[in-house]
Amino acid sequence: MSEFEPKIVAYCCNFCAFAAADLAGAMRLQYPPNVRIIKLPCTGKVDAIHLMKAFEDGADGVFVAGCLEGQCHYLEGNLRAKKRVAYVKRLLAEVQIEPERIDMFNLSSAMGGRFAEIVEEMTQRIKDLGPVNANETRQAVKS
Ligand code: FES
Repeated sequence: MSEFEPKIVAYCCNFCAFAAADLAGAMRLQYPPNVRIIKLPCTGKVDAIHLMKAFEDGADGVFVAGCLEGQCHYLEGNLRAKKRVAYVKRLLAEVQIEPERIDMFNLSSAMGGRFAEIVEEMTQRIKDLGPVNANETRQAVKS
């Protein structure tokens, strides 16, 4: 039997996490290939509906990665994203989906190693949780 390979969606700020992912690649750091990155001008652009839609579309896990607190280029975008992630955690719990499937991380563009660690951490966490039942999730998210 093949091992479960989770699908993870990462919403990454252009200034930090996306650049850190780029750096991880340039440094030839190894990390699991389970993550699909969506580049944002700032994590403040991500809304709860985008995060829930990722689950509806089949993601087993989602994370948002923004600038370090106090270093957002749009002042408080990462703080807004943090609140939205916390809100989505509560929504997931209400529909019986583990809130650990979503998380928020903060890093700088120089933290290529940290980006690789985050991908490792999220991949292992979602592997431990197992797949989200796609049909149940779609029904729960839509209701
Ligand atoms: Fe990076 Fe706002 S500019 S999180």
